[in-house]
Amino acid sequence: MKLDEQRKLQLEEIYNTLLNDEKVLKMKDIPMHFGSNCYEHSFKVAKLAMKRALRHKSVNLEALLIAAIFHDYYLYDWRKDKSKKKRHGIDHPSIAAKQAKRDFNISDQSIKMIESHMWPINFKDFPDSKEARILNLADKTVATIEFMSSTKQKKNHHDKTLEDISKLF
Ligand SMILES: [Fe+2]
Ligand SMILES: [Fe+2]
Repeated sequence: MKLDEQRKLQLEEIYNTLLNDEKVLKMKDIPMHFGSNCYEHSFKVAKLAMKRALRHKSVNLEALLIAAIFHDYYLYDWRKDKSKKKRHGIDHPSIAAKQAKRDFNISDQSIKMIESHMWPINFKDFPDSKEARILNLADKTVATIEFMSSTKQKKNHHDKTLEDISKLF
């Protein structure tokens, strides 16, 4: 997909604003996949989802970008909270969606993408749009890479990659 300058700027602004948002930064306190945290993970998923989405002809890039950034906006550490541990995999997509709606009033389209990002674990929430499927697969790819790489590799990688979404366009 070819983007005009205005669209590129709009996407960069969404990304950079949320990258520095006080509430979004709270995701840094939530550990994730052996050495990563929820904030790094979410922005990596956002970048990969955008990269893949740009190969398609028509995708709602704005809604996808927002869904990717908030897909794990559940804001609790399931490793410490016993009541959350058992059902985290199933419950966290709807918790993340609700909290993103509460704090950022995100669109219903982005909400649906967030709710289906754990499919097939959440079997009833099938990713029923192109955008939802891109998010679902980008999340699985990033989680697998995080799971398999060492803490040191993650740190080095992170420092270079989170900024500058503009390089994608
Ligand atoms: Fe998730
Ligand atoms: Fe995730």
